[in-house]
Amino acid sequence: MVTQAAPAEERSRRHLLDVAGLDWRSLQKLLASAGEMQQLLDAPAGGSDALRGVGVTTLFYEPSTRTRISFEAAAAALGARVTTFSVATSSVGKGESLIDTVRTLEALRTQVIVLRHERAGAPWLAARHFGGSIVNAGDGWHAHPTQALLDLSVLSRHLGDSGGSLAGRRIAIVGDLLHSRVVRSNLHTLTTAGATVVLTGPASLTTGFTEHAASFRGAPGSVQLVASIDEALHNADAVMALRIQRERLTPGEIDSLEAYRAAWGLTSARLAALAPRALVLHPGPMNEGVEIDPDVADGPRSLVLEQVRAGIPMRMAVLQQVVSGARA
Ligand code: CP
Repeated sequence: MVTQAAPAEERSRRHLLDVAGLDWRSLQKLLASAGEMQQLLDAPAGGSDALRGVGVTTLFYEPSTRTRISFEAAAAALGARVTTFSVATSSVGKGESLIDTVRTLEALRTQVIVLRHERAGAPWLAARHFGGSIVNAGDGWHAHPTQALLDLSVLSRHLGDSGGSLAGRRIAIVGDLLHSRVVRSNLHTLTTAGATVVLTGPASLTTGFTEHAASFRGAPGSVQLVASIDEALHNADAVMALRIQRERLTPGEIDSLEAYRAAWGLTSARLAALAPRALVLHPGPMNEGVEIDPDVADGPRSLVLEQVRAGIPMRMAVLQQVVSGARA
């Protein structure tokens, strides 16, 4: 079912900067739209020309495989003109600023910029200086909206009720919370969908999350921070391992990768003992043998590749939404 949004509401969707502030109705619309996009992908034509003539540029200041490729596949499936901006070979290397870069892209007929940046808040800065739409593809430790949306689509499909709600479901998220934009965005979507989210990780990597968990009081779901992985996994319907972000770790935050695996890794023995029916997720890229063992990542309860596949229809839904918002 395609629902009509009021013009003002549509205009407010010109960008997708964050999932914070999206209510359950907005999330349900995106889930429904992603379902329609999957039908388009599965049909013989494999897409549509809904964004024909629209210039979409992926502007990634940090490495990516899943997010960049799936955004480009999504834009192509909707008939857009897709440009991959190579930061390494661009005038960024000559000192061109983010603001000048987005203005330049606008002059070169880009209407949508999909932006990944190492600085939290960069997409908001870009949005103030760009006449088209900005989609946040990950900013620093702050937010990764489309990862959270695709994770929600996968979890709702497996664990949701007929409307996709996760009320009564318990989702454990384990590991490097401190550096994770994925967990910060997932907390919004999962609690808005009604889930109980149980967070755990080494104390050095959960700094600030007691207060962060408390900020979700009043949400349909809830957030708990617990000190032990045993407690987090108990009765979990799903468990998501977070990547140890070696590039962001400061010395002393973990003793060693081996010690981390022993204490916090998703191993088949640990899952069999503590969460024998839990579905397993990881946003990727994985450090196999650290936060998740290869046999778990490739095992029968793993949704890791389903998460990757879900990226294309969800990002089609997001691109369609921001272009509609810009046209409203
Ligand atoms: N999950 C995620 O953002 O992966 P990439 O860094 O490969 O895009």
